[in-house]
Amino acid sequence: MNIGRCGIIDLPKIEDARGNLTFIEGGRHVPFDIKRVYYLYDVPGGAERGGHAHKELEQLIVAMAGSFDVVLNDGKETKRFHLNRSYYGLYVCPMIWRELDNFSSGSVCMVLASNLYDENDYFRNYQQYLEALRAG
Ligand code: TYD
Repeated sequence: MNIGRCGIIDLPKIEDARGNLTFIEGGRHVPFDIKRVYYLYDVPGGAERGGHAHKELEQLIVAMAGSFDVVLNDGKETKRFHLNRSYYGLYVCPMIWRELDNFSSGSVCMVLASNLYDENDYFRNYQQYLEALRAG
């Protein structure tokens, strides 16, 4: 998979004087059915998360509060995305190495995922990830 398939999805935003509303429908605003939601919060300053790739999992990453950076790498190219709005989602396709850093205080990172948690779907070692890419 290549990094060109990943990118920012502009989510619907219903603007209202009482506050804005954004919604996400599986298979419509994200190209997968949503099977799991998880979120990172109370992230201490300077912390780094991620540091892995998924074999099959697709994800959408949203900054629900505050901001942080997501660095994507496909074994050849690296791209840094700064997420700071809850109406933008970063779509991450399978076989992309990702790292998250630069968390602002009070930030919340929500992730929508195409499957349930499965440790067997992870590459947690970058060299093994590169070898799997080379093996095709
Ligand atoms: P990990 O995926 O390494 O987090 P991050 O990418 O944010 O650094 O997960 C951290 C721990 O949480 C690890 O022990 C696995 C566990 N975990 C679950 O049990 N269920 C989940 O849905 C997720 C994402 C993680």
